[in-house]
Amino acid sequence: MVRMRFNASVATGLLLLQTVFLLVLYSRQNISLSRMEDKEKVHLLILSSWRSGSSFVGQIFSQHPDVFYLMEPAWHVWVSMFQNSAKVLHMAVRDLVRSVFLCDMSVFDAYMPRERNVSSLFQWATSRALCTAPACNFFGRDEITNESSCRTLCGKYPFDNVEQACNIYSHVVIKEVRFFDLKVLYPLLTDPSLNLRIIHLVRDPRAVVKSREQSMKALIRDNGIVLNTNGTKVDDSKYEVIQQICRSHVQMFETATLKAPSFLKDRYMLVRYEDVVRDPLREIKQMYHFAHLQLTDKLRKWIHEITHGRSPGNKKEAFLITSRNAFNVSQAWRKVLPFEKVKTIQDVCKGAMNMLGYLPVESAAEQENLSMDVVVPRKHYQFSWL
Ligand SMILES: *[C@@H]1O[C@H](CO)[C@@H](O)[C@H](O)[C@H]1NC(C)=O
Ligand SMILES: *[C@@H]1O[C@H](CO)[C@@H](O)[C@H](O)[C@H]1NC(C)=O
Ligand SMILES: *[C@@H]1O[C@H](CO)[C@@H](O)[C@H](O)[C@H]1NC(C)=O
Ligand SMILES: *[C@@H]1O[C@H](CO)[C@@H](O)[C@H](O)[C@H]1NC(C)=O
Ligand SMILES: *[C@@H]1O[C@H](CO)[C@@H](O)[C@H](O)[C@H]1NC(C)=O
Ligand SMILES: *[C@@H]1O[C@H](CO)[C@@H](O)[C@H](O)[C@H]1NC(C)=O
Repeated sequence: MVRMRFNASVATGLLLLQTVFLLVLYSRQNISLSRMEDKEKVHLLILSSWRSGSSFVGQIFSQHPDVFYLMEPAWHVWVSMFQNSAKVLHMAVRDLVRSVFLCDMSVFDAYMPRERNVSSLFQWATSRALCTAPACNFFGRDEITNESSCRTLCGKYPFDNVEQACNIYSHVVIKEVRFFDLKVLYPLLTDPSLNLRIIHLVRDPRAVVKSREQSMKALIRDNGIVLNTNGTKVDDSKYEVIQQICRSHVQMFETATLKAPSFLKDRYMLVRYEDVVRDPLREIKQMYHFAHLQLTDKLRKWIHEITHGRSPGNKKEAFLITSRNAFNVSQAWRKVLPFEKVKTIQDVCKGAMNMLGYLPVESAAEQENLSMDVVVPRKHYQFSWL
């Protein structure tokens, strides 16, 4: 009898303990579950073209503490198979982009030697995530990093750190200039393992040409791929490459707006670089909103600095963002390009300029008269579906 009562109270006690334990366990699990839900995975593709401000916009995402960013991972595809056309390489590029979005970095086995480290990745030091913990122990995850100090300190870490770092982020952002057709991306948009959003970044083709001429040498191999020359390098003195680029912008924008399949709805946003430099905060807030990212005070301060700073850019490092007055830079073509060139560009890119809200200039006088705005204000020009 005594023994039985003893047993019953012990059993009650144990049951109570177990209940409390389970409750604690359950509530913890609940918390971690809801955290996971808050941080749904987002895969963002910044779809752009050479010299269109995409490094700048890439940095805006790369520095966000929730973002794992890679700039131009498909550079490796193009370098390895440079005798092919952009169209043929589309599929390999798409496959690589899908793998990177899923943090499967084994895809680089096809393009890199076995012996490799973080610095084997093209432009790796532009990725804040590869410059901070857990990829690199010299900087904390919340720090704003810069390319030069990261390059010196973080390159020797094992390549496996890339995958390890990628896995801890809610957002994976990739910037690519190597897509010329939106339809190529349809399988990624319908892939249930991805939550793909696309920011299509464009820029006034006259400003693009001016910037391309400054980095001509860096582009001649890519030009050959765009023009399908079987590996022959070409400069773009006849404006054939810019014509292809303009055409692809028209095609992508038309596909996304006029002929959009339902799975593209709310997943495509057109951004003009000029709008970003004229009102960086407004545009960046919209892009963050589109990507489900919060703007922090630290980022707000940093964005102000990089768009209003005074230090002159280092021309050698053509792919770096600098803190020159970004708006002035966006108008520099008007003082630098001869009018004859401007006329030719306006000719080959007529459709794109018309569609994207860039006005042609009719004379050298108009070109140089900066009080004539050649960018149609954004408010008269509703692009995105936000
Ligand atoms: C668990 O989460 C659900 C919904 O998110 C909530 O209704 C419930 O109260 C939570 N339970 C605990 C023990 O926190
Ligand atoms: C690792 O990176 C450094 C540069 O940071 C380089 O000198 C070295 O050769 C790399 N090692 C391998 C195995 O790739
Ligand atoms: C880069 O970062 C390092 C360390 O955080 C800092 O000392 C240096 O001034 C920075 N350089 C530039 C150009 O911002
Ligand atoms: C492309 O170039 C390679 C080597 O440079 C050559 O062997 C091949 O025949 C060329 N193909 C065509 C279609 O011209
Ligand atoms: C930007 O342009 C304005 C007007 O053309 C000029 O007054 C100003 O000095 C320029 N600023 C820089 C940083 O070049
Ligand atoms: C420059 O453009 C403005 C606005 O269109 C115009 O009022 C002004 O007369 C032009 N200046 C010159 C020198 O042509």
